[in-house]
Amino acid sequence: ISKLGVLTSGGDAPGMNPCIRAVVRTGIYSGLNVVGIRKGYQGLIENDMYDMNPRSVSNILNLGGTILKTARCLPFRTDEGMETAYQNLKEQGIDALVVIGGDGTFTGALRFSKKYPDIKVMGVPGTIDNDLYGSTYTLGFDTATNTVVEAIDKIRDTADAHDRLFFIEVMGRDSGAIALRAGVCCGAEAILLPEKATAIDDLIENLRAGQHNKKSSSIVIVAEGDKNGGVYDIARRVQNEIKVYDIKVTILGHLQRGGSPSAFDRVLGSRLGYAAVKALLNGHTQKMVGLQANNIKITSLEEALTQHEFKLEQDLMEMADILSI
Ligand code: F6P
Repeated sequence: ISKLGVLTSGGDAPGMNPCIRAVVRTGIYSGLNVVGIRKGYQGLIENDMYDMNPRSVSNILNLGGTILKTARCLPFRTDEGMETAYQNLKEQGIDALVVIGGDGTFTGALRFSKKYPDIKVMGVPGTIDNDLYGSTYTLGFDTATNTVVEAIDKIRDTADAHDRLFFIEVMGRDSGAIALRAGVCCGAEAILLPEKATAIDDLIENLRAGQHNKKSSSIVIVAEGDKNGGVYDIARRVQNEIKVYDIKVTILGHLQRGGSPSAFDRVLGSRLGYAAVKALLNGHTQKMVGLQANNIKITSLEEALTQHEFKLEQDLMEMADILSI
């Protein structure tokens, strides 16, 4: 390979910038030309690219978001869109790509590189959802969880002052990873997860037990992918049964995606960016780099996508209930 393109795609995640920095500097150090592609696959189709040098990524380790910008690009799902992207890459002389994103990004990358195998592709798992097979942690998950913990700690203060019950919705799409971890960190009285169905009757019983045990406030974390009908609906159903509690609902929303990456995400982004370039130089393609048992592991995109099932830690699920009695 001689010319490397780098892009971020799908939802942004803190840690993407440290990763871009590592890709750019490792690429240049290794003798490659490096091109930044703006707005993910959209930039490939619109030929929105620029040459990068080591200074293009100065002072970005601490920045949230992504300096390359990102997008969810529908035209890239069509043959026509892919062909335009390919022609633009050929014109630029780019023969390898590092794509940083989640499963939608990887699905696009795999389809594209099967169609045009002369463009080598390496994925880096970047999503706050922590829902990719092949990496114990994805970029942004740690920072997002810390953001959620900080927010819920603040809500606990006011919940306690008023003796209130709060329902707090957190992000994660179909994954309860943020909800579970934040729940353990904040001592949530209940955590509703897509991975583990909780009947509302059981939740009510649990909250009543808390009242009986003289809890002054209660926090229920609801993962956005939970299947009980949404946080407002759940709150209303509980309110109908437990009249004594003053109930409030907070949806944390997109603040969970922003902020300066944590030390963990800066190191992870740097490691994965470095590893992605090394893997391409070693001849790998149609793969992703990930972290397993604190070592870099390379997984095929095919496997990453078909095995796509992130298992939550069983001990966290069990202890969450026990530690909040
Ligand atoms: O995948 C990251 C994520 O933040 C999910 O947790 C959430 O469901 C989704 O993206 C929101 O997407 P958008 O920013 O496009 O509304």
